[in-house]
Amino acid sequence: MKDSQFLNYLIGIVGALFGFLILMVILANLMSSDEKAQDSMVTDAINERIKPVGEVTIGAPKAAAPVAAASPKDAYQSNCFACHGTGAAGAPKLGDKAAWKARIAQGKATLFKHATGGYKGMPPRGGSSLDDAAIKGVIDYMVSQSK
Ligand code: HEC
Repeated sequence: MKDSQFLNYLIGIVGALFGFLILMVILANLMSSDEKAQDSMVTDAINERIKPVGEVTIGAPKAAAPVAAASPKDAYQSNCFACHGTGAAGAPKLGDKAAWKARIAQGKATLFKHATGGYKGMPPRGGSSLDDAAIKGVIDYMVSQSK
C-alpha cells in the first residue's frame, strides 16, 4: 500500500467514525430527553413507596416547635444531664446538696428564669427546645433530687 493510499484510507475511517459519533450524540440527546422524564417518574414512584407509613400532617409543620417531654426525668436525662450529671462547665450536679442549697434558696421562679433565659455558663433552656412546662418539671425534679 502506498503512503498516499493509506492516508486516504485513514481519512475515510476517521471520517466515518466521526459521522457515527455525531449520529450517536444526536440519538443520545433524543433518547435522554425521554429518559429524564422517565427518571423523574421513577424517582416519584420510589419516593412514594419508601415514604414513612404513619405520615400525618395537620396544618403547616412548625419549625423547631417546643417539645413537651415524656417525663421530667427523661427530659433531664436528654437535655440537662450532659452538664448537670457531670458538673461540666461548672454546673451544679444533680444531688449535690451543697451546690444547690443557695440556688434553691433563690426560689423556683428565679431558677426558672435562669434556666429559660440563661445564666452564666448555663445556656437558655440548656440549649434544648423544651417548653416552659417541661423546664418547670425538670427544675422540680432537679430540686427534689438535690435537697
Ligand atoms: C451546657 C451545660 C448545661 C446544660 C446542658 C444545662 N445546664 Fe443548667 N447550668 C449550667 C451551669 C454551668 C450552671 C451554673 C451557672 C452558674 O451559676 O455559674 C447551671 C445552672 C442551672 C440552674 C441553677 C440556676 C441558678 O439560678 O443558680 C438551673 C435551675 C439549671 N441550670 C437548669 C437546667 C435545666 C432544666 C437544664 C436542661 C433543660 C439545664 N440546666 C441544662 C449548665 C448547663
